[in-house]
Parts: sequence; C-alpha cells; structure tokens
Amino acid sequence: MDVDCQEYITSWNRMYNEHVTVDDACAVVTNYDEYAKIYERDCSTLKFSLPNAVTQLLKENMPKSVFESETVALLDVAAGTGLMGESLRRAGFNGFIDGVDGSQEMMNKAQAKCIYRKLNKVFLAPDTPMPVPNEHYDVLTCIAALSQGHVKPELLTEFARVTKSGGLIVFTVRNNLTNQKYIETLNSIVQYLEGDGTWEKVKCFSTEQYGIDLASGPSQKKSPMYSLVYCYRKL
Ligand SMILES: C[S@@+](CC[C@H](N)C(=O)[O-])C[C@H]1O[C@@H](n2cnc3c(N)ncnc32)[C@H](O)[C@@H]1O
Repeated sequence: MDVDCQEYITSWNRMYNEHVTVDDACAVVTNYDEYAKIYERDCSTLKFSLPNAVTQLLKENMPKSVFESETVALLDVAAGTGLMGESLRRAGFNGFIDGVDGSQEMMNKAQAKCIYRKLNKVFLAPDTPMPVPNEHYDVLTCIAALSQGHVKPELLTEFARVTKSGGLIVFTVRNNLTNQKYIETLNSIVQYLEGDGTWEKVKCFSTEQYGIDLASGPSQKKSPMYSLVYCYRKL
C-alpha cells in the first residue's frame, strides 16, 4: 500500500469510523468538537469537493445580480468549519451568510474566517424547530450533513419552512453502500414535499464527494465516493 493510500485510509477512518458511526446524533456532534482541530486536513486528504460543486450549482441557477447582491441572505445548515461559506465568497457571493451547527468547536473555526454574519449553536432534531422565523432566507444549503447519525431527513420540512418563496434549497447526501436506507427515507420526504406543493425540483444529480470510497474496505477498487445533490425551489 503506498503512503498516500495509507494517509487516505487514516483520514477516512477518522471521518467515518471514529466520529460518526454511532447511531446517536448527540454523540456525533460532541465528537465533532474534538474533530474540529483536524477536520479540514482530512477533507483535503479525501479531496472533498462538494462545497465547490454546490457553489457552482447556485451560480448557475441564480441570476448574477442576486448571487452577487449584498442583501441576499443564505443559511448554511450544519455549517461546520465554514467550507461552504469560503467557497461562496471565492465565487463572488456577496450576501449575508448565517450558519447553524451543533458543534461549537466546528463553528469557532468558521467564525475565525470572518465570513459568516451569525453562527448559532443548534442541535438539529425532527421534533425541534430551528430558532429561525418562517420564510427568512433567500437560499439554504446543507452539505455533507444529512446522513445516518447526523441530521435526520425530517429536517427537510424545516429547511422549507425557513426559506422564502422562490428561494433555493440545496442539500447533499452521501450515495454509497452504507447510506442507502437513509436515502430511501429522504427521497420519500423529498417527494412528499414536491407532491404537497411545498417545493419544485430545479435539479438533482450525482457528483464526487471524495476521491475514493472505502466503505467496503481498503481492498476495494479505487473509485470515487459519490454524493447526490438536490436543488429545490420553495413555492
Ligand atoms: C461532515 S460535517 C460537514 C460540515 C460542513 N457542512 C462541510 O461541508 O464541511 C457534518 C457537520 O454536521 C454537524 N451535525 C451533524 N449532526 C448534527 C445535528 N443533529 N445537529 C446539528 N449539527 C449536526 C456536525 O457538527 C458537523 O459540523
């Protein structure tokens, strides 16, 4: 095994096996407090590319005048260390970016980047509304946080509640062996919200999340790990 591959496996194990495999979202969030110190190093090793893919998607689906407006407001749900905010700023997004996340240490990293207007510690759970008024944001993103043991799929109704009519809601879901049951539940909620007129589909596609998928063990043929990207417009 070459050195790069070993480094990749170490990062993968931290990202999945040490911090997030427990089916207890409270414990997962607490683990992120510890993981915050080296989270971005592992993202870089794993070639985490979702923030840029989502930024590109928003750029393509928002009028330039809105994407670059100083008054547009975006909520980054499970903002973590602020990779999404950084990517947006690099691409010329000039609006307000607020974030919520359950891990204070992850958000401290985001705060240090001086990109986010407000960052609130919020534990996201289906039975607890986010402390955000209805129809408050023009855009909402949730990247790499909807999965087993993390943010539950029922939170999609909250995403729709806090987004203004006409606003875009973009979220991503890891699409590999270990997340299929979660995706099934998520898709049924996505469709329900489509059926009841809460939102309409703008675009859904698959893109690379990490350079290699080790979910089936290190002997697996090297292939990227994909994520599904969902972009919906609130009606
Ligand atoms: C893999 S990180 C993704 C962070 C960021 N979106 C990114 O793209 O780098 C997952 C984040 O979700 C947060 N998280 C997971 N489950 C949560 C929950 N139930 N409530 C609040 N935050 C949660 C963690 O604290 C962590 O910051």
